[in-house]
Amino acid sequence: MNKLDATLVAEALKRAEYNLTDSIKDADVVLINTCSVRQHAEEKVLSHLGHLKHLKENKPALVVGVIGCMAQRLGAELLKSKAVDIVCGPTQIPQLTELINKTLQQKEKSIAVTGQIRRKVSDKQTQALEDFESAYDTDDKQLPHQAFVRVMHGCNKFCTYCIVPYVRGPEVSRPPKAIIEQVKKLAGQGVKLITLLGQAVNSYSYAAGEKTYCLADLLYMAAEIDGIKWIRFVTSYPSEKFFDPICRAMADVPKVCKYLHIPAQSGSDKILKAMNRKYTAAQYLNLLDRAKSIVPGLAVAGDFIVGFPGESEDDFKATVELTKKARYKNCFIFKYSPRPDTIAEKKLPDDVPIEVKRSRNIELLAVQEKISEELSSQFLNKQVRVLVEGLSKKPHLNAEDKVGLPQLIGRTAEDWIVVFNGAPDLAGCFADIKITKTSPLTLFGEMSA
Ligand code: 5AD
Ligand code: SF4
Repeated sequence: MNKLDATLVAEALKRAEYNLTDSIKDADVVLINTCSVRQHAEEKVLSHLGHLKHLKENKPALVVGVIGCMAQRLGAELLKSKAVDIVCGPTQIPQLTELINKTLQQKEKSIAVTGQIRRKVSDKQTQALEDFESAYDTDDKQLPHQAFVRVMHGCNKFCTYCIVPYVRGPEVSRPPKAIIEQVKKLAGQGVKLITLLGQAVNSYSYAAGEKTYCLADLLYMAAEIDGIKWIRFVTSYPSEKFFDPICRAMADVPKVCKYLHIPAQSGSDKILKAMNRKYTAAQYLNLLDRAKSIVPGLAVAGDFIVGFPGESEDDFKATVELTKKARYKNCFIFKYSPRPDTIAEKKLPDDVPIEVKRSRNIELLAVQEKISEELSSQFLNKQVRVLVEGLSKKPHLNAEDKVGLPQLIGRTAEDWIVVFNGAPDLAGCFADIKITKTSPLTLFGEMSA
């Protein structure tokens, strides 16, 4: 979501005749797009702001804006900092160019955040976001020919640890017509892979006349569009609603990638209940089994939080068991971080010591690594198709081969990372790679002739 917001803002500013610069030293305006999901993310922003405060001492005209979730969460509080001139929440980004113009001209601080974030979003605001989104969408030049398309804003799930419903507001699904028009436009610009985005993307629901559109409808409609080759969607909430039709779309439509990111968060029923996740471990595993039986070859990814309040050794063991049964391709594992004003922060003491959180994190990562290794080794000597992203960003991997070609990175439809040597201008193209070596998270191979 944040990457998409950043590209929308960058595009809007370019069209307002601002030039983007790679170096902070050349900038008249610095914008920090922020995340509030864990405290660590906010700490990084505060440390950036510390640097910017110093920079401003030598360059008083420098304008600094904080945008995104932290801007919404802290609002006027952030403006008190000498370093900050502009504060703009995620649902106010359509106003950002205006705020910057105003601050540059009038040398005054400015702020745009939503007063009561959980209030029903007005039609006017929905329209403003819609117009902004469809005007400035663009393929992300960092990953050529790929683009994110938001299908819904906000979240209504209220998992007790999570700040998202309080910073991104209520769930609002975008009209299917607008989404499909946008995908067509992106396809016209050469986009081959679109990733449909929503906090709980499988909750997408839009009533238009007689019909209520769900995510599966969007998948079928997007697959009709020439030029679009692959379609992904993230992130799915483990719920029965719309689940089978979405799995059938993955099975039936070759363009829909067989990749499901479906966080479990915990394997303990007690903890799942305390998290307000609306399923048990058994129901979750049942959903996965069904998904895998409908979609042969499905790759599953997950998220876990370790050290949630009240998590005992047995609760953690249940998480390890679930991880083993789920056989994820990869998992994102986070240490619980209390977020201000969430239900967990208000009602449940953060009682798992940090060393225990840390050791559970390491243990779960090791369990997952073994599974990832087993799954990735199945690709040895097989051929896979990847969409090439560009030069490998890891310099130590960036070794040239015998004929001087650098190392490139690509991903399969199921999101496996593949490293191989090839010409840099393959970025944005599909390539067939024969896998010669595997590691838990990366496949290595050679381009097939
Ligand atoms: N502490 C730790 N991890 C969190 N996540 C969300 N909120 C928190 C929190 N308070 C994790 C969840 C979610 C991912 C995006 O971030 O696992 O799926
Ligand atoms: Fe947060 Fe839960 Fe919504 Fe995901 S589904 S954004 S974890 S409240």
